[in-house]
Amino acid sequence: MTNKTSIQDSWASRWIFILAATGSAVGLGNIWKFPYITGENGGGAFVLVYLTCILLVGIPIMMAEVFIGRRARKNPINALSDVAEESDSTKKWGLIGVMGMLSGVLIFSFYSVVGGWVLHYIKVMLTGEMSGISSDEAGTAFGALLADPATLLGWHTLFSIMTVVVVAAGINKGIETATRIMMPALFVLLIILLGYAMTTGGFAQGWNFMFHFDFSKLTWNAALIALGHSFFTLSLGMGTIMAYGSYMTKKASIGKTVLTIGALDTLVALVAGLAIFPIIFSNGMDPAAGPGLMFISLPVAFGQMPFGQLFGTLFFVLVGVAAWTSAISLLEPTVAFLVERLKMKRVTASIGLGVIVWGLGIACLGSFNFMADVTFFGKNTFDFLDYITANIMLPLGGILIALFAGWIVKDKFAKDELETSDTIYKLWNFSMKFTAPIAVAVVLYFLLNPIK
Ligand code: TRP
Repeated sequence: MTNKTSIQDSWASRWIFILAATGSAVGLGNIWKFPYITGENGGGAFVLVYLTCILLVGIPIMMAEVFIGRRARKNPINALSDVAEESDSTKKWGLIGVMGMLSGVLIFSFYSVVGGWVLHYIKVMLTGEMSGISSDEAGTAFGALLADPATLLGWHTLFSIMTVVVVAAGINKGIETATRIMMPALFVLLIILLGYAMTTGGFAQGWNFMFHFDFSKLTWNAALIALGHSFFTLSLGMGTIMAYGSYMTKKASIGKTVLTIGALDTLVALVAGLAIFPIIFSNGMDPAAGPGLMFISLPVAFGQMPFGQLFGTLFFVLVGVAAWTSAISLLEPTVAFLVERLKMKRVTASIGLGVIVWGLGIACLGSFNFMADVTFFGKNTFDFLDYITANIMLPLGGILIALFAGWIVKDKFAKDELETSDTIYKLWNFSMKFTAPIAVAVVLYFLLNPIK
């Protein structure tokens, strides 16, 4: 592209991009959400659909997001409209980026509430309050936290401030350091937890639960959740990866880079599941316990294992960091837009956006107490925002990005950016034109028109 007049920073190397994008992808989605939705949707078949979606839909869309961002080197809205214009199409494609900004705001509002739970559990682990706790007691303790709006608000506020500070500092300083050190540490601790899970006697049952494919348990709703989660966990469909791609230099191979990110993200989710389910089964807990799953099962496990207080504290610190690097990436595309387009100062843009998402977050934390009666389509605010963003808005954003990359962007531009072999290019292009849009459309269709 000729007009490379961007005001943007760049990542120091391809590895830093991988780290930052992995930092965005690996978060509460992997460690908190994946195990609990797997539990609620019956296990194996759900996991298989999720893995298929990652491979056939998620990875190709991630390639598209990276190349659109990198080609334009601008925030998602302007990147989409520039690339559209260059391919002789309408700048209206930039509207996908507008919907993306809205998704980011809505996701952040419940994400930071859960981020707050994690901060609370760091404290609880550190003080040893939960040593030797039974699963019933752990359930009661989690319930008590949810019933206490003041405590929730304090942690939610802290988490929001932490995020805004890094976004305000800009991508290079903030995001890189957090990811470079903390991500490997998180993985090591997950492996330790997995090692412990293997000794509990529930390991075979946990393994079977995740990898025994019983399709009679699969519903269209479960398929939608698996599809939606593949977008959520890879941070797709709202411009995060496009924004991160815009900070990438031209040298790196997009295909290999994206495969690495997808593989790391999937690995963390699977290991988290394999660590959590054996603990659930060996303590006679319910895998379908919902959002509290991790917060109830893990304190029990840490309370029983040697050095549990130390490992437990470390674990929640690292989950907190993973959530933090993801939360940053939820705000980054919008802040980039405000800075580049509306010429706002980064600090002002970050704080302004921070105040909005923080306010919305209060409605989410109220869902468990003072606003429990407020429902949308039978769901409280927290569940409703989670549902419409992950299961509707992200897949819709993804389908539009796929259609755009497959049908609108000229082949020569896409080929020039992706620089892969002909076969890979054809596979990718086929996914953009057909597989990804059709998969999303079919699942949405059957969800709205259930087969009786
Ligand atoms: N992927 C993150 C997780 O799994 C959440 C996240 C960060 C996200 N940025 C995103 C989800 C953009 C959707 C879109 O926790």
